[in-house]
Amino acid sequence: MTTRIKHLLAITPDGQTHTAAGWVRTRRDSKAGFSFIELNDGSCFQNLQVIAARETLANYESEVLHLHPGAAVGVTGKLMPSQGGGQSCELVAESLVVYGLADPMEYPLGKQRITLERLRELPHLRGRTNTFGAVARIRNLLAFQIHAFFQARDFLHLHTPIITANDCEGASAMFRVTDANLKNDFFGRPTSLSVSGQLEGEAYACGLGPIYTFGPTFRAENSNTRRHLAEFWMVEPEMPFATLDDDATLAVDLLRHLFRAVCENAKADLAFFDERFERGISSRLATLADARFERMTYTEAVRALEDAKEPFEFPVHWGMDLQSEHERWLTEKHCAAPVIVTDYPREIKAFYMRRNGDGKTVAAMDVLVPGVGEIIGGSQREERLPELLDAMAAHNLKPEDYTAYLDLRRFGSVPHAGFGLGFERLIQFCTGLPNIRDTIPYPRAPGLCQ
Ligand code: 4AD
Ligand code: MG
Repeated sequence: MTTRIKHLLAITPDGQTHTAAGWVRTRRDSKAGFSFIELNDGSCFQNLQVIAARETLANYESEVLHLHPGAAVGVTGKLMPSQGGGQSCELVAESLVVYGLADPMEYPLGKQRITLERLRELPHLRGRTNTFGAVARIRNLLAFQIHAFFQARDFLHLHTPIITANDCEGASAMFRVTDANLKNDFFGRPTSLSVSGQLEGEAYACGLGPIYTFGPTFRAENSNTRRHLAEFWMVEPEMPFATLDDDATLAVDLLRHLFRAVCENAKADLAFFDERFERGISSRLATLADARFERMTYTEAVRALEDAKEPFEFPVHWGMDLQSEHERWLTEKHCAAPVIVTDYPREIKAFYMRRNGDGKTVAAMDVLVPGVGEIIGGSQREERLPELLDAMAAHNLKPEDYTAYLDLRRFGSVPHAGFGLGFERLIQFCTGLPNIRDTIPYPRAPGLCQ
C-alpha cells in the first residue's frame, strides 16, 4: 500500500516502513554513493525527499542514476528525521521500482522554468507543475466548500440541462448544438449550450425552496481577455420568498466562507501564490473573510466615476454598461474593498430582472472584487406577469418562447432572487493568477481547445 506524501509528511518520523509513489522532480547525486530524489505525488505542494543509496539498492547504477524529472517511481523505505534542512523527514529507500522513465532530452518540464503561456499548450502535463498542482487543489477545495456552504443551509443541489432551447442572458452569444444530419435537427428545434441554469433553477426553487446549480456554462463571446472563457463553471443559487437584500447577504456570506476555507485549508498552496503571483494574498483573503463589503447603487457609482480624475478609455455617463476599467477603479481605488453595485438601468440588464419603483432601474447586483472586477452577477427576478411581459417586449423576446417561465408567474408567483458566481473568476481572485485560462484544467477560449 502506498501512502500519499501529504500523510507521510504529517507523521512524526519514527523509522517505520512506508511506501510512497510519485513523479521525480529532481535528483542530486552525492559523491558518497547516494542520491537525493525529490518526489511529488500531487497530494500536497511539498515534495518528499528520498535517499537512495548505492549500497542498498541493487538497481542504483542501472536505474536510479537514470532518473530524471518526470520519471515515475515507487519507493519503500524507513521514514526518518531529516539530516539536512528544508524538510522534517525523509524516506530512506530499501527498494525502488521504476514505473516509467522520462527522457530528459524530450520531457518539456525539466529543471528550467517554463512560462504559463507555453504550459497552456501542454495542458496534459500542467498538473505536474507546482503552479497547476496548487491551482487544482484550490479548485477542488473551493468546489467542496461551495457544496458544504449550501448543504449546511438546506439548499438543494439541482442539475440543470447543458443543452437548452432558451437564451437566459439575451445578449450573450450561444454555441449552437446540432447533430451531423443538418437537414433534420435532432431536437426538432434550434438548441444551444446553456449560458446559465438560472431559468430552470427558478422553476425548481418556486416549488422546492432554495436550490443551487453548479455546472459548466458556455458563451461564444469573442472576448479575448484575461477574464473570459468560452466554457466556464457557474454556481447559481436561487431563493424563493427573497429580495435583492437577501441575495446580497447570501453572496457576501458565501464569499466570506470560501475565503476563510482557502486560508485555513490551503496554506502551503496559498503561500506559493503569495510568493510567486500576488504578494500579500494570504493576508488579504484572511481580512476579507471578516470584512464588510461596500454597497452602492449604479447611480452613485456613475457619479463617483464622473467625479474621478481618471483618464478612462470609455467616458462614463448614466445609462452605459460599466466597463472593466470602471469596475476595477470602483473596487480597487474608490472603495479599496469588494463592492456590491445595485440598481442598474433596465436597458442594459437581462429581461428577467425586477423593475424598481423608479421605472428606470432594475433590482440587479454585481459584486466587484479587486484584480478581477465582476465576480458575481445577480438580481431579484420579475415575479409580476404584466411587468415581465412588458420587459420581454422591450427586449424583443416572444412570450411563446417562454411559456414555462411565464407559467411560474401565473401560478403561485412569489418574489425570488438569485445570482451567478463565476467559479474561475473566484479561483483567479483566490490565487492572484493573472489569466483565467490558468484556473481551469483545459481552457476553452477563442482559438484555444487543446
Ligand atoms: O453576470 P452573468 O452573465 O449572470 C448570469 O448568467 C445570471 N443568469 C446569473 C444568475 O443570476 N443566476 O454571469 C455570472 C458570473 C459573472 O459575474 C462572472 O463571474 C461569470 O459568471 N462569467 C464568466 N466567467 C468566465 N468567462 C466568461 N465568459 C464569463 N461570463 C460570466
Ligand atoms: Mg454580469
